[in-house]
Amino acid sequence: MTFLFNSDARRGGVFADAFAKELPDLPFAMDAATVDPNAVRYLITWTVPDNLARYRNLEILFSIGAGVDQFRFDAVPANVRIVRMIEEGIVRMMQEYVTLAVLALHRNLPGYLAQQRAGEWADIAQPQAGARRVGVLGLGQLGQAVLDRLKPFGFPLAGWSRSPRRIEGVTCHHGEPGLNEMLAASDILICLLPLTEETRDFLDTKLFAKLPKGAALVHTGRGPQLDHEALVAALDTGHLSAAMIDVTDPEPLPPRHPFWSHPKIILTPHVASVTQPASAAQAVVENIRRYRAGLDPIGLVDRSRGY
Ligand code: NAP
Ligand code: GLV
Repeated sequence: MTFLFNSDARRGGVFADAFAKELPDLPFAMDAATVDPNAVRYLITWTVPDNLARYRNLEILFSIGAGVDQFRFDAVPANVRIVRMIEEGIVRMMQEYVTLAVLALHRNLPGYLAQQRAGEWADIAQPQAGARRVGVLGLGQLGQAVLDRLKPFGFPLAGWSRSPRRIEGVTCHHGEPGLNEMLAASDILICLLPLTEETRDFLDTKLFAKLPKGAALVHTGRGPQLDHEALVAALDTGHLSAAMIDVTDPEPLPPRHPFWSHPKIILTPHVASVTQPASAAQAVVENIRRYRAGLDPIGLVDRSRGY
């Protein structure tokens, strides 16, 4: 029985140490060429390797990241459990990034940066936090965590999910009517949805039209959820005021893509949140313990939903 690590060596070293200490009975390997494929019961990777079929006794395929949209589910045998990464480092970094973005947009940072470049010294009208409504698309691990971190600032908070949720201090919406209601009342909209067939191209012209005039967007889900041209058009007409974008399609963007230089866009290269090896290794160790005890691993993916 072997755990095979298929990612970068730096993170692998941290995982190897954690496994040696916490699960000494489970052989840990980083070089697929040196292991008996029949012994591999657990594999952690970012993408599904082409030769997955050789691991005939595989039981769990772990994603090294929070998302699993990079996995082709039909390439993974139905009996193999797919588990996404839920670990405190990813959560903390996403809380930091979204807080940074919401405060930057609330305090008109894109506007002040443009004024600085133009040599202009002038106030931009500043609403108080209680008058800046924040809506989060996706109320999973990350959506809930960022809402929790935003609470002390006093923004009216709302969120949207597929199934009904109750979160203290957050107006929760679900389904199509709930979406329209939340969009109409979101001055800053944050996307933290997983990429599925239903959420592909989700942030489009029609959706932007449902936001109040002057609303801003924070996109930290996945690139293919955003219609890039629709965003530029909504910013250029002034319907949207600004956007902070961490994920794009493709990544990286080609050299002359309008996002590089758009004065109303702050762009980061998919760095909102990154798996932290020590806490991730601990999370995977705990999941193997749970699985061995007959419990579902935390982050077990429902293939029919796609996340
Ligand atoms: P999660 O726990 O699986 O939560 C997903 C949320 O989205 C759930 O609330 C779910 O609704 C909702 N949802 C999914 N499909 C929906 C639909 N069609 N309509 C309405 N709501 C829908 O995921 P997570 O851990 O919070 O992560 C979210 C995503 O963040 C990841 O999939 C990844 O793409 C992205 N991410 C980005 C970065 C970055 O650095 N930019 C880093 C990490 C993760 P229910 O509650 O009803 O199930
Ligand atoms: C990063 O985007 C992740 O899915 O962890």
